[in-house]
Amino acid sequence: MAKLREQEFKTLLTLKKLGSKALTEQIVGESGLSHAAVMRAALALKEKNLLKMRQEKKTLVKLNKEGRLYAQKSLPERRILDLLQAKGGEISIAEISKALKLSQEAVPLALGWLVQKKWAKINKEKNTIIVTKNFLTRKPPEGDDEKLLKILAEKKSIIAEKLDKRFQQALASLKRRKLVETKERSLFELELTKKGLQLVLKGVEVEKEVSQLTPKLIITKKWRKVKLRRFDVTAPGPVVYPGKIHPLQQIIQRAREIFLEMGFTEIRGPLVETAFWNFDALFQPQDHPAREMMDTFYLASPKRGKLPSKKLVNAVARVHENGWITGSKGWRYKWSAEEARRLVLRTHTTAETIKYLSEHKKPPIKVFSVDRVYRNEQVTYKHIPEFHQIEGIVVGENVTLRDLMGTLKTFYAKFGLKKVEFWSCYFPYTEPSAQAMVYHPKLKRWIELCGMGIFRPEVLEPVGIKCPVLAWGGGLERLAMIDLGLEDIRLLYGNRLDWIRRTPVCQ
Ligand code: PHE
Repeated sequence: MAKLREQEFKTLLTLKKLGSKALTEQIVGESGLSHAAVMRAALALKEKNLLKMRQEKKTLVKLNKEGRLYAQKSLPERRILDLLQAKGGEISIAEISKALKLSQEAVPLALGWLVQKKWAKINKEKNTIIVTKNFLTRKPPEGDDEKLLKILAEKKSIIAEKLDKRFQQALASLKRRKLVETKERSLFELELTKKGLQLVLKGVEVEKEVSQLTPKLIITKKWRKVKLRRFDVTAPGPVVYPGKIHPLQQIIQRAREIFLEMGFTEIRGPLVETAFWNFDALFQPQDHPAREMMDTFYLASPKRGKLPSKKLVNAVARVHENGWITGSKGWRYKWSAEEARRLVLRTHTTAETIKYLSEHKKPPIKVFSVDRVYRNEQVTYKHIPEFHQIEGIVVGENVTLRDLMGTLKTFYAKFGLKKVEFWSCYFPYTEPSAQAMVYHPKLKRWIELCGMGIFRPEVLEPVGIKCPVLAWGGGLERLAMIDLGLEDIRLLYGNRLDWIRRTPVCQ
């Protein structure tokens, strides 16, 4: 008679019980063995030709929090229908949320389903819903979506591929309603071979084995008699995910290190700044479109902050109004101190740069920052309202645009970006101005890395700097996306554990 280890025997029996074909997960659930034990047993059984093993990609479906709630209380449209029937067939939309303890957002969605399922109609004039004649007293039969919801609540998780066509549709609808979460998993499917089946039917002798050598076994000399289990060091074990620094944080650290290597010193400033530092001191006119609510987050309370010294404020005011001693004509409007006092979430770190320059005027200066900035952007695959900027300046008697381009080439080369070009462009505070572009071989297009230029006299005169200042600033997330090969910026902030785990510590 063939000999099997205890766990092998248990795995084999369970497989038979599940109809000769099952996923390792199902065996784990049914037998109470650990996943590692089932895997180990399965591999041994495969060696002995008692089962076949196939690796398959499957989609695991689970209810999320809202899904579980709905499974328990039934779908909101069903609950609204119950309410409708109880109240004689017509209710005002306003009373639904309170009567059923549904959130304000959930009501319109539920009404949508109510109408789509033809259980009720909406009366737009009276702002009420009216039950359809069919269901004045009769309950509509349970829909596939409701059935699937119940199955999911009961089984905890199911495999999407195993659902029949009807339930596939129901699943799609639950997915659209964001009631389930899905996970791609590599699963192992086991199937009994003929030999395996015969063996289970015939019965087997189970061999007791010791998998751990204890002091007791040694002292009592029993170790001589027992059978010690052999280890298969090639068997797949559970994957472990060690703790590590978030990929975005790693890029931030790398940017810092590169700046430090290049001899720069870090500066930091507050997230909330006056418009004075964020805009005015940078010669951005007060009616500049970027200042509009569209792009800038203004603080509601407190609304205004303090301006720096009178001398500096006056100089900035005059530069805006008529150019002051800079040789420029200025923007030719009446500058408002009230407007400059407004508090904003800084839209770029250049606010910190100019503030620093107003207090440190003696060259040589090489400072940088890697920090958060805010812009009122619609969230999309390439924009988020809160992101990071890399910013640097070089102040020196004889520095030129060539030095700026050289510094940036070196900086980005250290990031692995070699094909960098400089295209001319415009900023109100620099002249000449340019943007550094990098060619992305995978996307086959040029991507903007940062804005750059030499600060204008309109910016430097008021803070009292007499020599050229090379400045640049650009997005950090963009760099992270190129580095990590991402096409969606939201991934960097989504706390998606699977992605964080998958991303290697070293690129
Ligand atoms: N502040 C600019 C931006 O946010 C970048 C920039 C910095 C441009 C310094 C020129 C000089 O896009």
